[in-house]
Amino acid sequence: MPASALSARRLSSFPADAKSSFAADFVAGLARRPRRIPPKHFYDAEGSRLFDRICELPEYYPTRTELRILADHAPEMAAQIGPHAEIVEFGAGSLVKIRLLLDALDAPRRYLPIDISGEHLNASAVALRADHPDLIVQPIIADYTRPFALPPRLDGTGRRIGFFPGSTIGNFDPDDALAFLTQAGRLLRGGGLLLGFDLVKGPEVLHAAYNDAQGVTAAFNLNLLARANAELGADFDLDAFDHAAFYNAPLRRVEMHLVSRRAQSVRVNGRCYAFDEGETVHTENSHKFTLDGLRAMATQAGFGVGPAWTDPERLFCVHWLTAPTA
Ligand code: AVJ
Repeated sequence: MPASALSARRLSSFPADAKSSFAADFVAGLARRPRRIPPKHFYDAEGSRLFDRICELPEYYPTRTELRILADHAPEMAAQIGPHAEIVEFGAGSLVKIRLLLDALDAPRRYLPIDISGEHLNASAVALRADHPDLIVQPIIADYTRPFALPPRLDGTGRRIGFFPGSTIGNFDPDDALAFLTQAGRLLRGGGLLLGFDLVKGPEVLHAAYNDAQGVTAAFNLNLLARANAELGADFDLDAFDHAAFYNAPLRRVEMHLVSRRAQSVRVNGRCYAFDEGETVHTENSHKFTLDGLRAMATQAGFGVGPAWTDPERLFCVHWLTAPTA
């Protein structure tokens, strides 16, 4: 079977895959110690809605800061990217950020947004096509943290460019981030990657960003248990778990956990899981980077270091990295 047929089959069966990968990861995550669930499972319909609300919170600076950087420097980014580009976006959500870039680009040829959440992505793609009639918009519903295939390049297309905004790279542990960048370098051979990442900063700012006063981040974290109740027949009492988020300075990451408020047992998929009082489920790491640290990792993955753009307070950074050529 040719590789394209294989990937088409895998992609078309994806909605079922998304549910079963949640089930498998959730149950495996509860069985290990410390308990840990991958953060990609936050984004069911309700989780995606809550994340959109997080992005609007006064304390959550990353989204608005990155949008500002993109708006202020899009022409310089477009100059690095060059004409007739093909853009691959990893984790494309609602396609707000790419619009800022597209408006500055010279005749972009094709846009391939990759996202795990298909409905959201297809609806956004329809709206984007209406505003960019000359752009080929081809959504790819896939989990980009696993190997996946891209459609063959089109004739007359410029360089293939990766766009990975939002500091989603911070969700990977360092080894996985390096593996992801190495794989991206292969997909983007001869082109480049525009990477957005959150910078190391004072713990107070970080603490506020992940412990907002309205409790939206807490609801986002707890929604993982609501999702398990809805999809896995679990019986989590959402009032019996607390949201906890703190900056782990030595590891340069914000950690999110769900903390059992008391000793309790929970049923998931017909199996029983015991929690001690204070026992946690680790739900997310959000790594913060120094410019030097990020560059060292990118270089190790085979990228060349281009220009970087930041905000006046140096909260966030968007970096141009050139992909390997051979
Ligand atoms: C989407 C992974 C970049 O780490 O800041 C927001 C997710 N978690 N608030 C982040 C998130 C809690 C977000 N990323």
